[in-house]
Amino acid sequence: MSAFSRLMYLVIQRAARYLPDKAPDPLRHKHDQLGRPLPRVDGRAKVTGAARFSAEFRFDKLAYASLVYSTIAKGTISRIETAAAEGADGVIAVITYENAPMMKNPPIVPPYNSGERPKGTAASDLPVLGDKVHWNGQPVAIVVAETLDQAEHGASLVRVRYRAERPRLSFDAVKHEATAPVDVVGEEPTVEIGQAEQRLQRAEVVIDHLYRTPRHNHNAMELHATVAAWDDHGGLTLYDATQYVYGVKDTIAAVFSLQPDKVRVVTKYVGGSFGSKGNVWSNTILCAAAAKAVRRPVHVALSRRGVFNVVGGRSVTEQRVALGADKNGHLTALIHTGVSATTPHGPFAEPFGAPARYLYATDSLLIDQKIVHLDTVTNTAMRGPGPSVGTFALESAMDELAHELGLDPLELRRINEAHTEPSTGRRFSSRHLLEASERGAARFGWQPRAPRSRRDGAWLVGQGVAAAQYHVVRFPATVRARVNADGTAVLQTSAQENGMGTATVQIQHAAERLGLPVDKVAFEYGDTNLPKSAPAGASNQTVALVQAVKDACEKLQRELLSLAGNGAPGPLSRTRFDQLEARDGGLFRKDDGRRGETYAAILQRLGREFIQVEATSGLPFETMKYAMHSYGMQFCEVRVNEESGEVRVARWLGSFDCGRILNAKTATSQFRGGIIMGIGAALTEETLFDERSGRIMNPSLAEYHVPVHLDVPHIEILYTDIPDDHTAAGAHGIGEIGITGVAAAVANAVFNATGRRIRELPITLDKLL
Ligand code: MOS
Repeated sequence: MSAFSRLMYLVIQRAARYLPDKAPDPLRHKHDQLGRPLPRVDGRAKVTGAARFSAEFRFDKLAYASLVYSTIAKGTISRIETAAAEGADGVIAVITYENAPMMKNPPIVPPYNSGERPKGTAASDLPVLGDKVHWNGQPVAIVVAETLDQAEHGASLVRVRYRAERPRLSFDAVKHEATAPVDVVGEEPTVEIGQAEQRLQRAEVVIDHLYRTPRHNHNAMELHATVAAWDDHGGLTLYDATQYVYGVKDTIAAVFSLQPDKVRVVTKYVGGSFGSKGNVWSNTILCAAAAKAVRRPVHVALSRRGVFNVVGGRSVTEQRVALGADKNGHLTALIHTGVSATTPHGPFAEPFGAPARYLYATDSLLIDQKIVHLDTVTNTAMRGPGPSVGTFALESAMDELAHELGLDPLELRRINEAHTEPSTGRRFSSRHLLEASERGAARFGWQPRAPRSRRDGAWLVGQGVAAAQYHVVRFPATVRARVNADGTAVLQTSAQENGMGTATVQIQHAAERLGLPVDKVAFEYGDTNLPKSAPAGASNQTVALVQAVKDACEKLQRELLSLAGNGAPGPLSRTRFDQLEARDGGLFRKDDGRRGETYAAILQRLGREFIQVEATSGLPFETMKYAMHSYGMQFCEVRVNEESGEVRVARWLGSFDCGRILNAKTATSQFRGGIIMGIGAALTEETLFDERSGRIMNPSLAEYHVPVHLDVPHIEILYTDIPDDHTAAGAHGIGEIGITGVAAAVANAVFNATGRRIRELPITLDKLL
């Protein structure tokens, strides 16, 4: 990283602490539209099949392609035999590193704290096709044919010879060689406050254990798919399952040495992603390359195995949490260290140390994250990257400490509630974790009891609790806003709908800002021909767009006021912007409700068809100045069969503190989805990795077990709905917090039911017998 950009980053971070606060957003207390459980505006299109997903785009002369994957983990390709495939029915071309169009290595995202501008968002900077093999399952050829069946058959006929080398595949064999990563998603890998190891030695009560979490893979319903079509002028249009259309655009432009305006990416609907579609993986680039090679539009849809081969999941982790406390439960030492795996070509260090940076006041703190490099597909962010597995360790350890002290685990958390951010000393912008916790406990019927003290026939019953946390991120975004002479409004930005309710919430939000009914507001999205949105990642897209929509609506209203109020003898003459409120389809004086004008009246009077503005939200100084997080407390009841070891989750309640909730329905659904995914991590999810071959052994939903309906109990969701005075609409991100704390809550409940402490996920029955 360049020293200059890194320095600028540090200066901006530091300077932000001295910036004055922005005026709080008046909308944070308004409830006409925001917060209502408005049903999804895209719901009908989705259930009727009218919503087109990336794999469903069709063109004249569309060809289909299938990938050939390496069968060794490391080595060099000595020969690729393509003749049989080339001769097969319907095959148009077999593309390998020997005959592929020219491609530069894809640009990966630089470390966030480097201050460098990303040139692309690839997951790995390896050559897209090359003679070197870096993992088992790496694409080594792409077969293009008239139909998908012909492409798959052709791919099965390609023979690849290798000179194999010895790969590094065993995490346990190399973990003692772990080293510090450059960064941990923007944070320093080490935090040291006080002398935590010494304080631990002297503590009255000590808990010190290792916790392990396995590899996980994202299993979105929609498989990764791309349709690529080049035009006669060297322009390229991609329909691609992604969390960030502009990231695809920039990456593809860099790989094919195109001006970015030559690449258009269209993605309106995404069938889930959880982080897997946050980066550009080689399937997308190969689709564009194949379309270029055969001069026809090409369709690449990965199989489920294909996704496991090409798209990395969550790293394995081994974490040590050591807690020292006095007899009253006051933390004197908090140590969270450990190792995760990554690759030399896509260094994502799973930030499991995150929750220890933010959750508890402690006299001394040590966080130290290390990485090892393995020869695998590169790992990436998966829902709640960091806290999802970090809370398993930290929140299990807190439960162990509470047990040791004979304290209610909620009481232990209350005693150690942080009043400033432990790792930085910054003030919290808004933190009501204890309130969420108390409301949750009352509603759930939280009753701490001794382990193994409740039983229902063969079933041992236990309750568990764990804190949830995910930090607030906001990337800049641009939104275009327009009001039309018929009194309707349109918002435009490139964001995709990844399933969280993006369009629905922004329509509600803009309707509230503009004083319009929701059916008068349209939201147009999912296309790089529209202004650049923030990515849908790090739980940020909604809050990023709320800020940008706020800015765009205000700019639009100021423009309207200056046209309607200045000079012209209308009801709004000699009115200042701060004297106005938006309601009833227009702008009205707060001090005199009769003085005002609808948007339609203003535009008709001016003889204008529409008025349009564009606004870009600025840098997120608020998240630099304040410690800003979403919080929650997860409560569950489990039943463990004493004879079989089977664990059933019987009841769940998540109580959250995430600022103002913008839509009761989509938010509740988002929290629930996270909890369901967390139940998977707790009990069933595990990518089985063969350390001899580097092959993933369970790349299918038949063998990689995500929760099904019968695994999921009734999940009740509470939220404080207390606005954050430092964010637009008072909102925080909520996309990922739901999964955090879940595995720990289950493990703690299993301990409460059985007296057995399981420190390795998933909690399968063999570990309990
Ligand atoms: Mo998220 S795991 O940042 O898409």
